Amino acid sequence: MTDPLGDHDREAASPTGERPRVVLGVGGGIAAYKACELLRLFTESGHDVTVVPTAAALEFVGAPTWAALSGKPVATDVWHDVHQVPHVRIGQSADLVVVAPATADLMAKAAHGLADDLLTNTLLTARCPVVLAPAMHTEMWEHPATRDNVATLRSRGTRVIEPAEGRLTGKDTGKGRLPDPAEIFAFALDVLARAAVPGPAADLAGRRVVVSAGGTREYLDPVRFLGNRSSGRQGYALARAAAARGAEVTLVAANVTLPDPAGVKVVPVETTAELRAEVLAAAETADAVVMAAAPADFRPAAVSEAKIKKAGDGSAPGLDLVQNPDILHELSHDRGRPDSVVVGFAAETGDSTGSVLELARHKLERKGCDLLVVNDVSGGAVFGSAENEAVVLAADGAAVEVPRGTKAALSHVIWDQVAARLPGTR
Ligand code: CTP
Repeated sequence: MTDPLGDHDREAASPTGERPRVVLGVGGGIAAYKACELLRLFTESGHDVTVVPTAAALEFVGAPTWAALSGKPVATDVWHDVHQVPHVRIGQSADLVVVAPATADLMAKAAHGLADDLLTNTLLTARCPVVLAPAMHTEMWEHPATRDNVATLRSRGTRVIEPAEGRLTGKDTGKGRLPDPAEIFAFALDVLARAAVPGPAADLAGRRVVVSAGGTREYLDPVRFLGNRSSGRQGYALARAAAARGAEVTLVAANVTLPDPAGVKVVPVETTAELRAEVLAAAETADAVVMAAAPADFRPAAVSEAKIKKAGDGSAPGLDLVQNPDILHELSHDRGRPDSVVVGFAAETGDSTGSVLELARHKLERKGCDLLVVNDVSGGAVFGSAENEAVVLAADGAAVEVPRGTKAALSHVIWDQVAARLPGTR
């Protein structure tokens, strides 16, 4: 399993300082088995988890599994321990409710306020953030009834994660897969953390954002390329954070090996030309674009169709390079939407011509973006690191210093700055 918390703070803490109380609802779908892993991620990071499966969920994974993994008894109906009024108490006392998998049937009930078992009662009584992670066949997800129910739930503030695309039960593939449990966990942690921040938790709801991540490859021949060490972690953290704040996120990922963030549309690319095409297309209708990727500045002038052979005389072939287009510059000067917010990144060391911040201010002007996230890399590279520190410079003169912390924390500061400049909020 990947490290789900690589970009997150590990300690679980509720606004009251106690162990956060999480209700894990489990719907009756084949993906119920993946909720076992989600449960472990919550319990191992110090959360107090009550599992509430539906009766159908117990057909897939039995009550003993949930009880053993959570350390608590498990009930599906409202007739157990009635003197403790569980149908009200569980929802009322929760800091977060996560339902994974959420079936079409369960979402229909939740959208219409039906309460015929313990989970649907819990959903009606919860006043904390509610995250639903749907999983179903594509036809069910796309059915107008489900679309309406999802829209209703979202309009009430319920966080419905877009399902992932890929292999479904049986032979078919399409949209409807439960995202990676580690990614649902990361999403849920973000929602839980945001609940403690003043202001609306889903402040990017209704916004479309594009994030680029990773490092591009420029091929010399079918097997060789010029590349760079960008891991994509900052871009992935940005995508996760935006999704947790309710945005519709397109993540254009160049050669990244991280798991797809929950609820995010991932578009894999390899070269700078592909990255440019996908980012510009998605930017047409986007409210904000963040260029966290490291596109190669140069590419070979020609790509050999056949593998380049070694010369017998021991000589090496010359390498002719040409410059790649500057995507950030293009995005900033030819905006799909004139009121969109464009964000760039800059890794600077400072030199005889200026300090890190002076060079970054010039770069901000040269590129024409609204915000530039500046990493001072004088003391060593940040590639692959889980932490980052930065200054977020704005074209309007503002500068926000972000102390050393997780890439998730930096991501939220960046989205705070973006959100403050979006139309309707500025
Ligand atoms: N960028 C881009 N297209 C490129 C190269 C970079 O959009 N072909 C974006 C990166 O995604 C990042 C920012 O520009 O947001 C980083 O620029 P950087 O490479 O640091 O700037 P350069 O213009 O290459 O400046 P320098 O001369 O300092 O390398």
